[in-house]
Amino acid sequence: MIKVTDLRCEYLRNPLGIDILKPRLGWKLQSDTRNEKQTQYRIMVATNKKLLEEEKADLWDSGIVKSDKNIHIRYEGKDIGSETKCFWKVRVWDKNGNPSEWSKIAHWRIGLLTDSDWKESRWIGEKKRRRARLLRKWFIHDYDPSPLLRKSFTLKTKPKNALIYITSLGDYELYINGEKIGNRCLSPEWTDYKQRIQYQTYEVESALLEGENAVGVMLGDGWFKGNLGPFGVLHNHYGVTRRFKMLLHIFYEDGTSDYVYSDEHWKIWEDGPIQMSDHFMGEVYDAKKEQRGWDQPDFNASEWKKVWVYDPPKAQIVAQMNEPIEIIEELTPIEVSEPNPGEFVFNIGQNISGFCKIHLNPSLVVEGAKVMLRHGELLNDDGTLYTKNLVVAKNEDIFLLDSNESRPFHPHFTYRGFQYVEVTGLKQGVKPPLDMISACSIGSNCEKTYEFESSHPDLNQLMKNIYWTQRNNMISVPTDCPQRGERMGWMGDTTGYAQTSMFMMDMGAFYSKWIKDIRDAQDELGRYPDFVPYPRNKVYKIMNFYCAPAWADCGVILPWLMYLNYADKEIIQDHYTSAKNFIDHLIKVNPDLIWTESIGHNYADWLNGDIVDLENYPEEGAAVPPDVFSTAFFAYSTRLLAKMAEIIGKDEEANYYTTMAEKIKNQFIKTFLDDNGIIKGDNQAGYALVLFFKLYRDGQKEILEKHLIRTLKEYDYRLSTGFLSTLPFMMSLTDAQHNNLAYDLLLSERVPSWLYMVRQGATTMWERWDGFVEGRGLRRPRMNSFDHFAFGCVGEWIYRVALGINYYEEEPGYKKIMIEPHPIRKIEWMRGTYTSIYGDINVGWNFSEKLLKINIEIPVNTTAQAKLPIHASEIVKEGNKEVENGESIKIIEKTTKNIIMELGSGAYEFQIILQNRQVNK
Ligand code: BGC
Repeated sequence: MIKVTDLRCEYLRNPLGIDILKPRLGWKLQSDTRNEKQTQYRIMVATNKKLLEEEKADLWDSGIVKSDKNIHIRYEGKDIGSETKCFWKVRVWDKNGNPSEWSKIAHWRIGLLTDSDWKESRWIGEKKRRRARLLRKWFIHDYDPSPLLRKSFTLKTKPKNALIYITSLGDYELYINGEKIGNRCLSPEWTDYKQRIQYQTYEVESALLEGENAVGVMLGDGWFKGNLGPFGVLHNHYGVTRRFKMLLHIFYEDGTSDYVYSDEHWKIWEDGPIQMSDHFMGEVYDAKKEQRGWDQPDFNASEWKKVWVYDPPKAQIVAQMNEPIEIIEELTPIEVSEPNPGEFVFNIGQNISGFCKIHLNPSLVVEGAKVMLRHGELLNDDGTLYTKNLVVAKNEDIFLLDSNESRPFHPHFTYRGFQYVEVTGLKQGVKPPLDMISACSIGSNCEKTYEFESSHPDLNQLMKNIYWTQRNNMISVPTDCPQRGERMGWMGDTTGYAQTSMFMMDMGAFYSKWIKDIRDAQDELGRYPDFVPYPRNKVYKIMNFYCAPAWADCGVILPWLMYLNYADKEIIQDHYTSAKNFIDHLIKVNPDLIWTESIGHNYADWLNGDIVDLENYPEEGAAVPPDVFSTAFFAYSTRLLAKMAEIIGKDEEANYYTTMAEKIKNQFIKTFLDDNGIIKGDNQAGYALVLFFKLYRDGQKEILEKHLIRTLKEYDYRLSTGFLSTLPFMMSLTDAQHNNLAYDLLLSERVPSWLYMVRQGATTMWERWDGFVEGRGLRRPRMNSFDHFAFGCVGEWIYRVALGINYYEEEPGYKKIMIEPHPIRKIEWMRGTYTSIYGDINVGWNFSEKLLKINIEIPVNTTAQAKLPIHASEIVKEGNKEVENGESIKIIEKTTKNIIMELGSGAYEFQIILQNRQVNK
């Protein structure tokens, strides 16, 4: 029987406080039978659960809709307003017309849609800080303690429901009656606060009491005024005075309601225990400064001051509709050492982003001591903490104790990437227990969508490393790295990695938010900057961080990938004009169609071939010429724009951009590619890009592939590719039928290679191929992160080629799945899952001496075209039947190399009876 599961609203589960009045709904389907599909659905939406249980819908009853659609279905019910909680359920009918049970009831809640919905709430905060003038404003740091703000209020009874809407400039934490509300970190998260500020919604009835209550808010510097930027030493980008706005809406059982809001009646204490906080620098927490009970109703706040009230910022206040940054997991260290007396180094066993909770037992602490935690990714040879690659970031948390009580401490408004934490201030020689530290791994809590396992442990570790690197860097925006003073949303890194990221985690909501950030950051000329959010101030104006080829192109490529992976047509609709403005600008300023104008910086194929002191490895010659690089992306993005125009029905524009893309391609060929198929620069990256973007003359593919292989040979079969050409290189090898070489690269353990990193004990991806080389040591520390996702792009190759899970452009979102696994004897077995928007896609393969088993499972309501490798006249079985007689299998073609089949939904086990062959030799 068909079953409905996993109800989603705008990608999210039961979102609270959304500002889309007609959100899109979707669900997944399950069934034990093959070739199952949905033929009709019925959605019911009601203002309360009970109505729905009685099968009544006061908001919307879609009626029975004949459709196989189960994603992105727009709510078409009654108009709803702010704060409405909408409960919904759905049932579907299978291919034989049998109905499913009703799904479990899910919900969404509308947030505050207008200014007036915020009632009397005002922006309140600390005393106005003077904005330092000129350069001082950015360079001189003026850390202030985190202010505490509080208000007490009385409730006539315990409320039935209560909601808090809150946002701030500076990070906030929210408390009610002594309890922190929610599990969020670093709210309201990062946007360009001059344009858009997100608010969060919490259901807080369980924290409220009849009678006296208190609400408290604590503010930190955050992205708003803290250190930020590629150089890590600039701050105050968005402002200097920390403030917030909040509304608590209380609903009583008797139908009446009440409000508590941020207003002039709140009180403030400006010298709280957090004496300073900064994402890069860390936090100083002085327990002596605690105002114990400050967030409790019976607290005596007579010494507290009145708050300062501010005019609202000009920015738009919008609901946060992406997964919050949260503590995802708490890890206990695996070992502790004492390299110098009193210097304890805990090894977490995993490079993470976040902070530590430390339980301080005074019997272990030096009396009157300050306990300091320093964080780093590596150790020096002598076992002490290595911090050089943090550049300007300090990543230090300091706790000043005030009493003899044994208690936990943790920082509030800071995070960093680290595997090791050094603790000082403890008594010498007394080994602290491991569980003194609990390492909190934080990240935007997007669901994991991959499972991978194979007979090759290093490969498994590689996939795990890719996943962790992503998790550590998805901190409201896709950052480059979490440890050094940088942590920016560098767009080029995402251009190269985005597809892998979508295999690893559900990125629908996360990128929907970031694509808005990208639009906010676009300038009047249509230029996208190199990183997003982009504080648009004078410093950056001078720095020219705009229009870096491949970085800026992310503004076109990422929405396109959202369409391919999640069938999100709406994102194309919303973003099209922005992408068009970018391409139009490039066309305008580069009339000869070679992209040389309007480039702030051309990082080209970042970090390619950039390896020093490696035996038999050329130090020069790997870098792709900047104009080849830029024009290749220009051609590609223009082609994507044409496709976007077509999808949203702008046929004329589609024709125009198709013609333009063709012209750019021809110009590219004329300028950079000679008749012998030599690309300017003549190196791996160049051939990879030319082949991947198909920028060659008819009939030239083969010769280019020969050059691709030659350039690989010139490096003794090692890669010399960078952030943007590595995946194209791997995919081009596959396309050229050289998977054996691609597998060799994947499994190579020589520098530069993925498994070299793994062999060195990496638990995350390195920024540089040669971040560390045995015998040679570390690369210069200024730019040597061990937690950078870009080279994790090989995850895409593993998914699309080794497992063979591919989208199909004509039926995006994996409605139709192209499955083409590439089993290879060198790896005995491999299996992987991708949880698509329709559900789990599983592919596995397994060799035994005479048999190759291939398992495929695809979700209900999808179909697949599976292409399996066979040799000569090998027999293929499915289950215990000849494949020709298999259920829900339609053979499209069988040659001496492949069998191509159409599959209905469900699970299949194919068995290929091997006949004296070496698979994939
Ligand atoms: C970042 C990169 C980024 C680059 C731009 C670096 O400092 O870490 O990942 O894309 O700058 O060149």
